[in-house]
Amino acid sequence: MIVGAQWGDEGKGKIVDLLAQDSDVVCRYQGGPNAGHTIVVDDDTYKIRALPSGIVRGKPCVIGNGCVVDLEVLIGELDRFPDGEVYLSGNAHLIMPWHLAIDQASERRLGKLAIGTTKRGIGPCYADKAMRLGIRVQDILDAKILRQKIEVALAEKNLWLEKVYESEPFDLETVATQYEGYAQRVRRYVADTSLYVDTALRDGKHVLFEGAQATLLDLDHGTYPFVTSSNPVASSAATGVGIGPRRIDRVIGVAKAYVTRVGEGPFPSEIAGGDQDRMRELGHEYGTVTGRSRRCGWLDLVALRYAVRVNGIDKLALTKLDVLSHFDELPVCVHYRTRDGSETRDFPAHQSDFHAAEPVYETLPGWSEPLDGCATAADLPDAARRYVDFVESELDVEVSLVGTGADRASVLTRAA
Ligand code: GDP
Ligand code: IMO
Ligand code: MG
Repeated sequence: MIVGAQWGDEGKGKIVDLLAQDSDVVCRYQGGPNAGHTIVVDDDTYKIRALPSGIVRGKPCVIGNGCVVDLEVLIGELDRFPDGEVYLSGNAHLIMPWHLAIDQASERRLGKLAIGTTKRGIGPCYADKAMRLGIRVQDILDAKILRQKIEVALAEKNLWLEKVYESEPFDLETVATQYEGYAQRVRRYVADTSLYVDTALRDGKHVLFEGAQATLLDLDHGTYPFVTSSNPVASSAATGVGIGPRRIDRVIGVAKAYVTRVGEGPFPSEIAGGDQDRMRELGHEYGTVTGRSRRCGWLDLVALRYAVRVNGIDKLALTKLDVLSHFDELPVCVHYRTRDGSETRDFPAHQSDFHAAEPVYETLPGWSEPLDGCATAADLPDAARRYVDFVESELDVEVSLVGTGADRASVLTRAA
């Protein structure tokens, strides 16, 4: 089970791609095309939003019931991997055109209070799921049912769009025809994915779960309301695929050696001044889906300790260590100072305490050597090794993988 341990874009796609080599099935269990997972193979860069990243290794891929599916995006990806073996849960919900329109309109209306969503319709789609108004993948299997469901949904959504958001309504005929076309293309992939994964596990196969978004964007455990509308945390993989929680036997958290965040919301270790721009340029920190600049910060061990707790992380993959080459000093946030002046190593449970928390840093020495020549963890410069050891000892969790570059081969395995 691979889970993002920060605010997303930790390099989950790359770690999934690595571990997919030894896996028989790779599953997404939540989220939708708000995700952008990058895999770099020599001169080819794959940016994947809907399919599990295991598709690049040619592994059977599952899109679980907990996901939300934009059929247009999915079809675009299926076209890129025509030989892909893909199993799409009939219980996953469809992101419909009005979800995108409402996401955009509601962000516009929020103005200064906007979440900074990816505007891919994620929140409105999950809201309709919870409201029991959603349209599911299985509904595309019967053209009559699909048309009826679109009609029922539009009766409400068009009112909402016109009267509340002063936006354009959708035409039933146009949407129904469009989705009938999508249905023809996608119906062959629809499957009982819970049964498929259960059978794979019973047959002794290795199943890899790929989290999208991340712990601090989790609807329950993240920095609400500046979160996504699903549960990226590890335990959600069981519900999002339809297996029992005890089937998940190992959780690997992925964290950058620093922190980034896209969109609005509190971010205690965000760097003030020129080092933020430097970090963004060195790390190419621009959104995979939206192209937005990612906010950059120093590594936050309070937040990471929290991610270890709420996911039950057994091992960490620390990515993008190479980006830290060329900084003379590396502040690492080890405590927060709270409103009452005390210090805490534990993530504040309440929003206003978190907003008021001030990071307290310990400064570690930097290194100037690039890491691309390191063939093993032993080749890392002393200061880089000490940086990783420090993370490990502060969190009491093994850092088993270290990322030293974007390419799929640029990762070092550390012995326990
Ligand atoms: P994800 O959403 O968690 O899969 O991460 P993204 O793909 O959105 O963002 C991670 C970015 O960092 C991508 O451009 C990756 O190619 C790149 N990347 C991943 N690991 C490393 C690494 O160890 N070093 C460097 N320099 N880049 C990396
Ligand atoms: P991956 O899987 C980083 C952020 C958005 C916004 C908030 C809500 O590539 O790590 P949403 O569109 O989900 O309603 O937006 O969540 N966000 C991400 N940030 N990486 C992602 O995915 C993200 N998916 C959503 O920027 O702040
Ligand atoms: Mg991403």
